[in-house]
Amino acid sequence: MYTLLRRILFSLPPETAHRVALNGLDLAAGSGLLKPFVQPPGDLPVRVMGLDFPNPVGLAAGLDKNADHLQGLGALGFGFIEVGTVTPQPQPGNPAPRMFRLPEHGAIINRMGFNNEGLDHLVGKVVNRRYTGVLGINVGKNKVTPAEEAESDYRKGIAAVYDYADYITVNVSSPNTPGLRDLQFGDSLKRLLASIKQEQAAQHQRSGRYVPLAVKIAPDMDDGEIVFVANALKEAGIDGVVATNTTIARDRVKGHPHADEAGGLSGQPVREASLRVIQGLYRELGEEIPIIGVGGISDGESAAEKIRAGAKLVQVYTGFIYRGPALVGEAVEAIRALEKERAR
Ligand code: FNR
Repeated sequence: MYTLLRRILFSLPPETAHRVALNGLDLAAGSGLLKPFVQPPGDLPVRVMGLDFPNPVGLAAGLDKNADHLQGLGALGFGFIEVGTVTPQPQPGNPAPRMFRLPEHGAIINRMGFNNEGLDHLVGKVVNRRYTGVLGINVGKNKVTPAEEAESDYRKGIAAVYDYADYITVNVSSPNTPGLRDLQFGDSLKRLLASIKQEQAAQHQRSGRYVPLAVKIAPDMDDGEIVFVANALKEAGIDGVVATNTTIARDRVKGHPHADEAGGLSGQPVREASLRVIQGLYRELGEEIPIIGVGGISDGESAAEKIRAGAKLVQVYTGFIYRGPALVGEAVEAIRALEKERAR
């Protein structure tokens, strides 16, 4: 079924296909038409960051930036959904074209640049949501906000979504906002982590509810940088780490007509780099801070290998575009098989 649908969608420019698919999905879910076509995965409950997930396979950030499609996406069996990245003010992102398919590699290159409707819009959507599953909200900074004021954008994001999120992800790893990834290193990272923890503490005190904070990092890190990040997360008391975002490396797609497009590369070519980061993080973090593994999951095995490497949850984006909702069930079943093997 999805093979046919994909053929139609892939005949459209990527962003048009994205819109058509998500609007269609909402319509189908709203009218009950979707149910016969989607086989929800069986439960595989897991408790992470103090939250109960019905299964460990989630939707990664960036697909539903404005939380406009929770109803449709919520019907596909994901164990959780992460919306965003949302910035304090609405912003248009980069000029199109800014998303490219590389089907030969099961990959996408994007330089969307945090196009989104801003915090007010997203909050309006999540307040009125019917989706009852676990909801992560991913926050970022506006392009026009100077690097020295990045903290303030993240704190605004955390404060605005705090009451409506099950967990909040602080995204410091998009390659498409100039200077953003510098926040992953050295004193900039330590300052940022301290600041977002302060905001979390203030919101916790105000609301009486503790909402876990996760930090999303890039795959383009050497071993020393991974150790540094892990230690900084531990010192600050961060609740989770999402590894990884897209890569700026192009070695895996050399020679492809789109290989030299600027932006972040996702899908199968980022699988190994993402796994390396997860392994490195787990060596340092052990069971202290849970890892949410993302990058290049395209089937059951690529999902299970992230859990094997120490991740407690996984997320999909590009694989979902290429494979459709069947990927969710496949990933859940592969993780179930791994858990059984481990229990023996
Ligand atoms: C993304 N990703 C992303 N991540 C994020 O934290 N905020 C965002 O706004 C976006 N936007 C976005 C747009 C597009 C078109 C793509 C393909 C990806 C990154 C995504 O969540 C994920 O971390 C990476 O794509 C790696 O996973 P996959 O795609 O290989 O499964």
